[in-house]
Amino acid sequence: MKVHQGPLLYEGKAKRIFQTDHPEQVVLEFKDDATAFNALKHSILQGKGVLNCQISAHIFECLEKNNVSTHYLGLAGNNSMVGQKIDVIPLEIVIRNIATGSLCKQTPIVSEKELDPPLLDIYYKDDNLGDPLLTEARLKLLGLITDRQREEIEEIARKVNSILLEFFQTIDLTLVDFKLEMGFNNSGKILVADEISPDTCRLWDQRLNDPEKRILDKDRFRKNLGGVVEGYEEILKRIQGASGKPSNAVSDC
Ligand code: TMP
Ligand code: ASP
Repeated sequence: MKVHQGPLLYEGKAKRIFQTDHPEQVVLEFKDDATAFNALKHSILQGKGVLNCQISAHIFECLEKNNVSTHYLGLAGNNSMVGQKIDVIPLEIVIRNIATGSLCKQTPIVSEKELDPPLLDIYYKDDNLGDPLLTEARLKLLGLITDRQREEIEEIARKVNSILLEFFQTIDLTLVDFKLEMGFNNSGKILVADEISPDTCRLWDQRLNDPEKRILDKDRFRKNLGGVVEGYEEILKRIQGASGKPSNAVSDC
């Protein structure tokens, strides 16, 4: 997609957002920076930006084809995409299919327990506060969204989970958990935004049993396992191999 990239609007840990000459469109540029533990750990991983951009683009296309509205409009380059300009809702919606990560650090729930129905956690997006987990009452108190919007956000997140669980299953990957961000477009519609990539998902390779080797996502970086970019490359390779195959159960992913 050809767009004119204008001034920088915002720079985050993993992306830069630029205005375009269209008032309602922005360019999202994916950086090679990898951070964890609220940026206490930082590295530059050559090629990560391109991989996350390409993986996210494919996932957004898959969601759109399955009637989930996202901000994604098209690729602008190898490491950049065009998105609808949105009012970001400062919430991180996490869906967990298998217990791991912070859930097991903060509760006695045993690692690898299957969560059925999947657990939906909502966090307040604020690095200075360390992205705290919210209760329903605290979310109400914050007044960021109405009860109806909360229901819609949860419904969207669960729908995204069923689509992606099924899609990743077709390429022998287990979607363990993932984080979504959402926002309002200029007509007030809620869109899935930001990125959906191995930076924001946990994906385990079903072809491997070893609990470390099977990790293909940012946990490789968080846990100092090495081979981070190689893990992301494997995910993109499988996604590209899957696209266009008529046997995919999820329509057109
Ligand atoms: P957690 O187990 O550390 O709470 O992570 C749950 C999921 O959310 C996991 O797929 C990684 C993702 N995530 C982010 O995308 N950004 C974050 O800042 C954190 C903490 C987790
Ligand atoms: N994204 C967060 C950070 O940059 C944490 C994480 O993904 O683990 O610090």
